[in-house]
Amino acid sequence: MRYYPVLVIGGGLAGLSAAIEASSQVEVALLSQVHPLRSHSQAAQGGINAALANVPAGRSDDWEKHAFDTVKGSDYLADQDAVEIMAQEAPEAVYRLERWGAAFSRSAAGTLDQRPFGGAGFPRTCYAADRTGHVLMHTLYEQALRHRITVRSDWMVVSILVEEGRCQGVVALDITTGKLDAFLAEAVILATGGAGRLYQRTTNALICTGQPTALAYRAGVPLKDMEFIQFHPTSLYGSNILISEGARGEGGYLLNRLGERFMERYAREAMELAPRDIVARSIQTEIDEGRGFEGEYVHLDLRHLGRERILERLPGIYDIASHFGGVDAAVAPIPVQPAQHYTMGGIDTNADGEAALMGLLAAGECACVSVHGANRLGGNSLLETVVFGHRAGRRAATLAQGRGVGARAHIREADALVADGEARLKAISGEGPKQFPQIREEMARAMTEQVGIFRTRRGLLEAQAKLQELRERFRASSLRHIGRRFNVELVRALELDGMLDLAEVVAAGALARAESRGGHYRLDHRERDDQRWLRHTLASYTPRGPRLRHSEVRLTRWQPEARVY
Ligand code: FUM
Repeated sequence: MRYYPVLVIGGGLAGLSAAIEASSQVEVALLSQVHPLRSHSQAAQGGINAALANVPAGRSDDWEKHAFDTVKGSDYLADQDAVEIMAQEAPEAVYRLERWGAAFSRSAAGTLDQRPFGGAGFPRTCYAADRTGHVLMHTLYEQALRHRITVRSDWMVVSILVEEGRCQGVVALDITTGKLDAFLAEAVILATGGAGRLYQRTTNALICTGQPTALAYRAGVPLKDMEFIQFHPTSLYGSNILISEGARGEGGYLLNRLGERFMERYAREAMELAPRDIVARSIQTEIDEGRGFEGEYVHLDLRHLGRERILERLPGIYDIASHFGGVDAAVAPIPVQPAQHYTMGGIDTNADGEAALMGLLAAGECACVSVHGANRLGGNSLLETVVFGHRAGRRAATLAQGRGVGARAHIREADALVADGEARLKAISGEGPKQFPQIREEMARAMTEQVGIFRTRRGLLEAQAKLQELRERFRASSLRHIGRRFNVELVRALELDGMLDLAEVVAAGALARAESRGGHYRLDHRERDDQRWLRHTLASYTPRGPRLRHSEVRLTRWQPEARVY
């Protein structure tokens, strides 16, 4: 058993931000399933939004315009008070990163440069070429070392300890040895990313399973707006590696098989820089209606930008297209198709990261502070991680300081939870059919085909039936490899348990929501219905499946309007 006043789970931008901030007041430890520098935040490309008004085209930008664009982008489902906090705190968050040494790209005048991004009225996205996540991760990891935060990689959380109505810590698996151990803490912050791997085609890394989100759900914490899944318009055809929106921000065109810049039909003003939900649906429509290539993709054309600009602004995209697509982007268009990219919903929290369970906080993609609503704007996710990670860290430290003996009074219960975990590991090492990989594949196929960009009641019902069947098969299945050291199959099976829970929640929310809003598009209910559905979905765990209820969307200054771009 180990004890820390604040325990952060997850080593990406949100987790590091939280840990750094909390460590100025209390001792902090951070557990991560992979080395922090392999967290998925590394893969973020295009940039981070803040209304700095640095470039001539954006001189009249301010935080209120940023907030309005975010609310409109969210299809009016975001909680506007939370959006206002994010937009107001954005400049300070970006300058803090700069002070810590983040090597942002600069304008000719020497200020932080800003590029246009989808759904934004001004060039507002600060960037480090097209490797912004990579640069920010190194900046924050360096700060974590400087703050002497205890970082333990290769630890996977397998349950949350709830006693006396509050979170008292977690039980985690040391992947290197296969042993379970308890970590008691006065405050636990989950910062464990999204659930992209519920889908077959995703830009997300293998670790983006959402399993820790499912642990919170099982511990009685409601999940919010999980039916809203973002499909990024441009992933590389074949591998689904992200091709940054920055490529369109720099002036890239989308072309169909007939050579048409087809976005003219869907978003006459914004064209390729309409919000992602609109661009992804437009591309998929072109493909479905036979104007794609090989029935699978469209072209992203950068040739008119010229080799020099491509290599200066989009060097990573150039390399990805070349190494993984065999395309020299300066002489040929890049084949792209939509792929799952972001989980808008998550653990329901307030603006300080607090979930409904006392002592449990969440930040970043696994949380739903509700700043993205039904559709996130590009460049707002990095921003969310640093703004709300920082706030969650501060709140967790305050909570920890306010407790006396606190979590350390629960050693016996922690030991019992470790024993439960051991029993569970033994149970899945039995003689059942060896089906875990197949179940995972079938789940991802059902989610892609029936809970994807376009949804129908019938498809969603079929998906639910499939998920139920997969759950039954999961219960009967067991591991092929029963060794404990670095047993990747065991890790995948534990992940799958949580993924099946989340898949159920996404499908149930999508079925209930009989309207189209942002990333949730129902072919049988094509319009937004504010009368009935300007509401959040809250899903709570029951053994028979998710129980859904609804809560009000907090509007401060913007009433819902038609969303035209
Ligand atoms: O397209 C991109 O560079 C992704 C940015 C984001 O998801 O915010």
